Amino acid sequence: MRGLGGKIAAVTGAGSGIGQAAAMRLAEEGCRVAVLDWNGDSAEKTADAIRKAGGDVLPLKVDVSQEAEVKDAFDAIVRHFGSLDILVSNAGIFSGARDNKVDGLDKAVWDEIVGVNLTGMYLSCKHGVAAIKATAGKGAVVLTGSPTGMSGCTPANIAYGSSKGGVHGLSRVMAVDHAPEGIRVNVVVPGFTLTPIVRELVADPKVYEWQVQNIPLKRGAEPTEIAGAVAFLASDDASYMTGSFMFVDGGLTAI
Ligand SMILES: NC(=O)c1ccc[n+]([C@@H]2O[C@H](COP(=O)([O-])OP(=O)(O)OC[C@H]3O[C@@H](n4cnc5c(N)ncnc54)[C@H](O)[C@@H]3O)[C@@H](O)[C@H]2O)c1
Repeated sequence: MRGLGGKIAAVTGAGSGIGQAAAMRLAEEGCRVAVLDWNGDSAEKTADAIRKAGGDVLPLKVDVSQEAEVKDAFDAIVRHFGSLDILVSNAGIFSGARDNKVDGLDKAVWDEIVGVNLTGMYLSCKHGVAAIKATAGKGAVVLTGSPTGMSGCTPANIAYGSSKGGVHGLSRVMAVDHAPEGIRVNVVVPGFTLTPIVRELVADPKVYEWQVQNIPLKRGAEPTEIAGAVAFLASDDASYMTGSFMFVDGGLTAI
C-alpha cells in the first residue's frame, strides 16, 4: 500500500485479535509501530512477533480509559520515535454475560463498557490527534466500530451497542473537524471476527453454524482480513477518504 513506509503508527488494543493483526500488518507495510494494551504481557508478545519479522516496535502498557496513562503513552511514543502519523484506536471490550437489555443493565457494567469502548476511544483520539498535530502535522486515524453501533444485531447488549454508536458519531465529527488540518478519520466496521476469545466461544461447530447462518459469506473473518482494511484506510491509497465507514462483515449488513 502506498505511503506507509517509514510512518509511525500507534495501535490500541494491539495485544490480541484485530489490533494485533493491524499492528503486524502496519509493521509489514514498513511502519514503526507502538503497541498499546492494558495487558502488558500481550503487548510484549505482539512486539516480539513484530521484532522477529524485522520490524521496529514499542510496546506500552496502558489502560485507554485512564487519561493520565493515555497522555503518558503518547508522550512516550513521541519521545521514542520522534513523531506520530497514524492512530488506530481499536481497544474494546464485550461482555455478552454481563451486558443486558436496558431495564436489567447494571450501571457499573454500563460505565465499564462505555468507559473503555467510547471514553477510551475519545481519550486515545484526544492525545493521539494532538501528537499527530504537534509532530507529523497531518496523518490518519482509524477507529474500530461495529455493526452493533448501527443496527440491533446483538440484542441485549445495550452498553456495547451504545458505545459503538458513540464511536461512529465521534469519528464523523472528528473527520469534519480535522479535514482542514490534513488528518483523515475513518472507521473500519468488522463483522463477526474470529479473535481468540470469539474462537473459544464458537468452538462447538453447532454454535459456529448458528452464528454464521445470517452472514452471506457463511463464515467469520480472520483478524488479518480486518487488518488489511485498517492498513488501507491508514495509507495514501485512501487519500480521498474521510468520515467513511468500511464494512468488512461478509455481507452481514447488506441484508
Ligand atoms: N471480534 C469481533 O467480532 C468484533 C466485531 C466488531 C467489532 N469488534 C471490535 O474490535 C475491537 C478489537 O476487538 P477484538 O475482537 O480484536 O478483541 P480482543 O479481545 O481479541 O482484543 C482486544 C484487545 O484490547 C485490549 N483492551 C481491552 N480493554 C483495554 C483497555 N481499557 N486499555 C487498553 N487495552 C485494552 C485487550 O487486552 C485486548 O488485547 C474492539 O473495539 C471490538 O469492539 C470486534
